[in-house]
Amino acid sequence: MKAKKETGKFISIEESRKNVGKKVNLRGWVYRIRESKGIIFLVLRDSSGIMQCVIKEGIPGFGDAQKTLNEASVELSGRVIKDDRAPEGFELKAEGFRVVGPAEDFPIKKDQSTELLLDHRHLWIRSRRLTQIFKIRSELFGAIDSFFRGRGFYEIQSPSITSSACEGGSTLFEVDYFGSKSYLTQSWQLYAEAMIASLEKIYCIAPSFRAEKSRTRRHLAEYWHAEAEMAWMDMDENLKLQEEFISFLVQEILKKRKKELEFLGRDLKILEKVKPPFERVTYDEALEILKKKGIKFQWGEDFGIDEEKVLTSQFDKPFFVVNYPRKAKAFYMKVNPENPKTVLCADMFAPEGYGEITGGSERETGLKELVKRIKAGGGNPRDYQWYLDTRRFGSVPHSGFGLGVERLLMWICKLDHIRDTIAFPRTINRVYP
Ligand code: 4AD
Ligand code: MG
Repeated sequence: MKAKKETGKFISIEESRKNVGKKVNLRGWVYRIRESKGIIFLVLRDSSGIMQCVIKEGIPGFGDAQKTLNEASVELSGRVIKDDRAPEGFELKAEGFRVVGPAEDFPIKKDQSTELLLDHRHLWIRSRRLTQIFKIRSELFGAIDSFFRGRGFYEIQSPSITSSACEGGSTLFEVDYFGSKSYLTQSWQLYAEAMIASLEKIYCIAPSFRAEKSRTRRHLAEYWHAEAEMAWMDMDENLKLQEEFISFLVQEILKKRKKELEFLGRDLKILEKVKPPFERVTYDEALEILKKKGIKFQWGEDFGIDEEKVLTSQFDKPFFVVNYPRKAKAFYMKVNPENPKTVLCADMFAPEGYGEITGGSERETGLKELVKRIKAGGGNPRDYQWYLDTRRFGSVPHSGFGLGVERLLMWICKLDHIRDTIAFPRTINRVYP
């Protein structure tokens, strides 16, 4: 007997668990399917969870179910029962089954190589593990908005194609812009510094691009950057804002996505501790810590992944490293009046061996100093004339920071590789799919 299209209302698997004993209509994808002694056991998957469905011979659609393969899309109707032996504790006694979209032999089987999974990323994103991560990611983006909007920030948008570098030339993606040279943006930085004279407190969540030739577990060529810039704010206030920001995000995720974190096996106690204040360690103190751990490091350099791993293993809560050497950092950072070899900046690090998640600073307001620093960094002040105008017309003290959203998410979920924080990762050796 062929099954007819269900005409009733469909509910999610999660919703159906509140309907024990009642008849429901479900739809989704075949997560697993097997036949045993004339009974088909189909585990259905939708965005909310999985549910075992039992299809007995004689039920409309049974013949089609026998031919159905993993990842076909299907509809079922039936009665929900509680059964502790079933995955997640519930089962559907099917009364009807229909295929919506059949599936070919699914190319992803158990224990596939990472390469195969990456080649089939468009299909692998259906995996339960990635689905949990994507839910946490979605929550994180919502929480970023709530935090800033709750504090009177305006959301702005900044161009992705730019004419000048702000984070150094070595990581720029060049774009042929109708015959002239331009770049994919590394940060909204310079535009933000112009926009604060209009809106004062602003934020933006957008992709940033880095042509870093690094094959590390934490570099994406395209990542999502949550940046904020504040007029009239000094470095201390900037640090306070950042520790409140990160604490808010982590607590929101804990509150709203606990189940997903548990699915990933995350130790929630670590996350529960993420509350202000965060420790502030100077760059010089960080060097001392590294020295004690037997790591030799030249004063003046920025930390690489190896130093960050050692450093952050000493902490179980995010912390700041402040006042880096001037030459290790971008030209727009304000010189530290107490030690002009350093700048008023901070990187925030996630603990447990993770590493940098935010970078920020108070901004240099002096026109002459900025021109000097642009030149020292190998830039041409002519390319920055519009930006320098921000210092010529009513410059004010200001600060800001940028959060690598995937870096934070990677640590919140305690993932081994940054690529699993984003559906279609862009890394040095891959733009497909
Ligand atoms: O430290 P960065 O380069 O700082 C800036 O771009 C500043 N203009 C931000 C600001 O003050 N508005 O980048 C900021 C953050 C880093 O701390 C890191 O978390 C993340 O962006 N990030 C990356 N994330 C993933 N892949 C990459 N290749 C990244 N490069 C930086
Ligand atoms: Mg940085």
